[in-house]
Amino acid sequence: MADEIANITLGKYQLLDKVGDGGFGTVYRGRDPGLEHEVAVKVLHPELARNPNFVERFRREARLAARLRHPNIVLVSDVGEKDGRFYLVMDYLDGQNMASMLKEKGPIPLLQVKALLGPIAEALDYAHSQGLIHRDVKPANIILCKNGSPILTDFGLVKSLNEISGYSLTSTDVAMGTYEYMAPEQIQGKELTPAADQYSFAVMVYQMLSGQIPFSGVTPFEIQQGHVNRPIPNPLQYNPILTLGIFAILQKALAKDPTQRYIAVSDFTKSLEAEIAKILSVEIRSLKQEGVSLMNRRQFDQAGAKFKTAQSMIANAEIDNLLSECLRRDVIWQHLLEMEKLVKETSAEIAQMRSKESWINKKEKVFVFLIRNIKEKFGILITSMKIMGDSLRESSHREKAPKKDGSKKNNEPI
Ligand SMILES: Nc1ncnc2c1ncn2[C@@H]1O[C@H](COP(=O)(O)OP(=O)(O)OP(=O)(O)O)[C@@H](O)[C@H]1O
Ligand SMILES: [Mg+2]
Repeated sequence: MADEIANITLGKYQLLDKVGDGGFGTVYRGRDPGLEHEVAVKVLHPELARNPNFVERFRREARLAARLRHPNIVLVSDVGEKDGRFYLVMDYLDGQNMASMLKEKGPIPLLQVKALLGPIAEALDYAHSQGLIHRDVKPANIILCKNGSPILTDFGLVKSLNEISGYSLTSTDVAMGTYEYMAPEQIQGKELTPAADQYSFAVMVYQMLSGQIPFSGVTPFEIQQGHVNRPIPNPLQYNPILTLGIFAILQKALAKDPTQRYIAVSDFTKSLEAEIAKILSVEIRSLKQEGVSLMNRRQFDQAGAKFKTAQSMIANAEIDNLLSECLRRDVIWQHLLEMEKLVKETSAEIAQMRSKESWINKKEKVFVFLIRNIKEKFGILITSMKIMGDSLRESSHREKAPKKDGSKKNNEPI
């Protein structure tokens, strides 16, 4: 069992614990004692490691991947072999892979999708400019680090699997998942261009937006047929917040003919980001309207929640002001309710006292005091309202009154 090799040393690397299994092998968290930093060590499945043809190709692809230097591509630092175990070393990424995140959360909020698109597209475009195609873009190969940044892993490695005979991609469940993201030309075994990565990435984006993959099936054949022959299902049926504009962009990136897709992956994501921004601005406008009407109905908690949601979508001074206005009105309203309660309680007690005809007693003195007290509070409130009213009247008067020198310009609002 691959598990047994945790806590041993492979080359100079100490394997600490197992992270997970994939189509090629098992990933361990490890330690590079020289540099004293954490690494991820991918140890190849024994049946692959025994195939010299595969190992040679894998080594070659790993070397090419190791040349990539991009903040959103995992750094591959070493490949090696010890006692028949073949391994690949990369930076350890502390985070969650997108496959498990999608499984947990379903569709991802538009704002987060928008933030993730750009960095992944740039990483792919960069690799393409270096002559490398990923060939296996899928959520399991993107790790969302704790600082929120998405990192692509496993660049080009699947190529070595495609190139050897006797090892079928369908032979493991993990690899079977790969068909769900595979471009039609890749399924058909045609020559690949960077557009294949764009297609796989677009499948992933479709899933991030709708919570569903466009082509699923019970058998690999069914999934393959979907990619090659079937039209893209409208994602609005899964998530009604999406628009036909988004659908059209996805359709272009998922074109069956690779030459019909966007030229660069970031062309696809830029169009998508603009469309998402449109949806978000409509959503923010309606949150603002709902918030204001709730505030006017004195449902301050709910109004505040609307403004806070809008605030999480966009940095906007108007929304900040609405939220603080809402909080301010809530405080005043709570004070007024408190006073109203006090007045009601007091008048009820006075009425009771009157009915008992015990008006002249000790209690009376207490209540007279209480009433005076309330009167005093109302007095303060009325005085401050008067001050507010006076100052408002004064400022509007100042705005209307012409300046002594007759200059109109100075009277214009700043
Ligand atoms: N550099 C890394 N740092 C931390 N975790 C990693 C790293 N690379 C992979 N992992 C994690 O290790 C697990 C296994 O990854 P692996 O790449 O073997 O599987 P996969 O991506 O599901 O399949 P495939 O073999 O097709 O890539 C996954 O949970 C993945 O998120
Ligand atoms: Mg992987």
